[in-house]
Amino acid sequence: MLSKQSIGVFDSGYGGLTVFKSIAKLLPGYDYIYLGDNVRAPYGNRSFKTIHQYTWECVQLLFEMGCPLVVLACNTASAKALRTIQQQDLKNVDPAKRVLGVIRPTAEVIGNYTSTKQIGVLGTKGTVQSNSYGIEIGNFFPDVKVYQQACPLWVPLIENGEHNKPGADYFVKQYLDQLLSQSADIDTLLLACTHYPLLQDKIEAYLPDHIRVIAQGEIIAQSLQDYLRRHPEIESGLSKNGNQQFFTTTDDTLDFDQNATMFFSEKIKSTYIPVK
Ligand code: DGL
Repeated sequence: MLSKQSIGVFDSGYGGLTVFKSIAKLLPGYDYIYLGDNVRAPYGNRSFKTIHQYTWECVQLLFEMGCPLVVLACNTASAKALRTIQQQDLKNVDPAKRVLGVIRPTAEVIGNYTSTKQIGVLGTKGTVQSNSYGIEIGNFFPDVKVYQQACPLWVPLIENGEHNKPGADYFVKQYLDQLLSQSADIDTLLLACTHYPLLQDKIEAYLPDHIRVIAQGEIIAQSLQDYLRRHPEIESGLSKNGNQQFFTTTDDTLDFDQNATMFFSEKIKSTYIPVK
């Protein structure tokens, strides 16, 4: 039985679970439906058109399951699909529905962490190429300089459970060196991909002590809490039974459930939902 009026949380696969973990911790009373598009993940290297098509299809599935509000807990989808969904798709389907992303809420606060006014952003190729962080951080903190580095091998490493193994060190070092070679004054490093918190220990171990690593989970959770306070018309319609349901687009739900615990800590029992 689905909880009607749940908050939908979407990711290309498992990564959004790192964000959902923080949301569920801060706002445990609401009902949630998590949807991972695992059968088509990773999204990171896909085209704008494909990422939009996949994301919009999944958002509509969440609408059909009764979610009036969907959080795209995926930077790549937020970078490449959110604007089109907000500005074009929603008005054709149901203008009362809401879809939020993770880039703007992160950009709103990330400038507060840096003293040197230099931030490093690590993300997928799609996120970095879109320059969404460069633009959004520039809107909120015009004096902050943003350096970006795509890390295309990190998601496959994590999805294949290789991130804690010694072989992962090579790829962690490779991308961090490339980022740090852009500026010696970066003091804040944003993990702008929801998978990357799984590599956080290795990243921190490699970086000099004065560089602070920021993951997005708590930022997004706080921003959602703030959004719900500012939008009582949405908040009052949400069901509040503390239910959490998990859907994945892969028919191998057992595999999803096993891998998901790496990202979510708790045991998950997912349900298969097919996509086109
Ligand atoms: N977790 C997604 C993000 O935050 C990317 C993973 C993927 O490439 O599908 O960008």
